[in-house]
Amino acid sequence: MIEDPIIAAQTPAPDFTINQVWEAYTDEEHAVWDLLYQRQSDLLKDRTTPEFLEGLEKLSLSDGGIPDLSTLNPKLQALTGWTVVMVPHLVPDNVFFEHLANRRFPAGRFIRKRNQLDYLQEPDVFHDIFGHVPLLTQPVFADYMQAYGQGGLRSLEYDALKYLARLYWYTVEFGLINTPAGLRHYGAGIVSSYGEAQYSLESRSPHHIGFDLKRVMQTEYKIDDFQDCYFIIDSFEELFAATQQDFEPIYKNLIENDTVFTPQCLAQEDSIIQRGDLSYGRDNVSI
Ligand code: PHE
Ligand code: FE
Repeated sequence: MIEDPIIAAQTPAPDFTINQVWEAYTDEEHAVWDLLYQRQSDLLKDRTTPEFLEGLEKLSLSDGGIPDLSTLNPKLQALTGWTVVMVPHLVPDNVFFEHLANRRFPAGRFIRKRNQLDYLQEPDVFHDIFGHVPLLTQPVFADYMQAYGQGGLRSLEYDALKYLARLYWYTVEFGLINTPAGLRHYGAGIVSSYGEAQYSLESRSPHHIGFDLKRVMQTEYKIDDFQDCYFIIDSFEELFAATQQDFEPIYKNLIENDTVFTPQCLAQEDSIIQRGDLSYGRDNVSI
């Protein structure tokens, strides 16, 4: 776990939130944000969905340094009613869902060190704010995230968290989207990663599969390396519409049958946009 004295000094509130104490970030911490921001924004220009890039602009996330929540939140709130709250590290599932259901996005306070720009085990403030917050300015995506939080609370009652977590993984974290300008990404795990922002679109290795709700819910994922498969939506409206149905019968069916797909395999019914050659995982050469 990464040490952060500002976090260690606080007792979290019952909803696990802490104060950002923005004044306490060091020059080096702000410099790491700026470095990450610069590298990523150059890369994302022709690779990320325009709604994300517009969100970056609207929130002035390029102003320099780690964003101050007291400046960021009024802007975000005026656009879609969302706010960002700070939490110490990962929070329990029900607490996380409760925040989303109330249009609050929980973000970590700490930032990675300069020698870990590319790999880190836990989400930091760069992943959480740069990666997740710009799309919360997009009204349909903002509604989807709130609905996800409400759905998350329900999934706990049905013991179906793992199915819903896979939906988050393959959309909110690692989603791809068709746009008039071509295939782009929107998932926070991709847009905040230097390597995966290129690999997800340009490598021959991963599968690209048309989004299908039940298929996604049956698909395992890797948490410590680039993905072997990505699911493509046509629009945020389509994604939102697909999740408006009651998931109870789907959960019951999934629990009964318990079919699982590994990230490497393809299913008969898949609409395959790219059949990956899986060369990345095999010999670990990057693109
Ligand atoms: N419709 C889902 C349910 O019945 C809730 C949900 C909405 C889940 C959006 C994920 C995303 O539980
Ligand atoms: Fe994330």
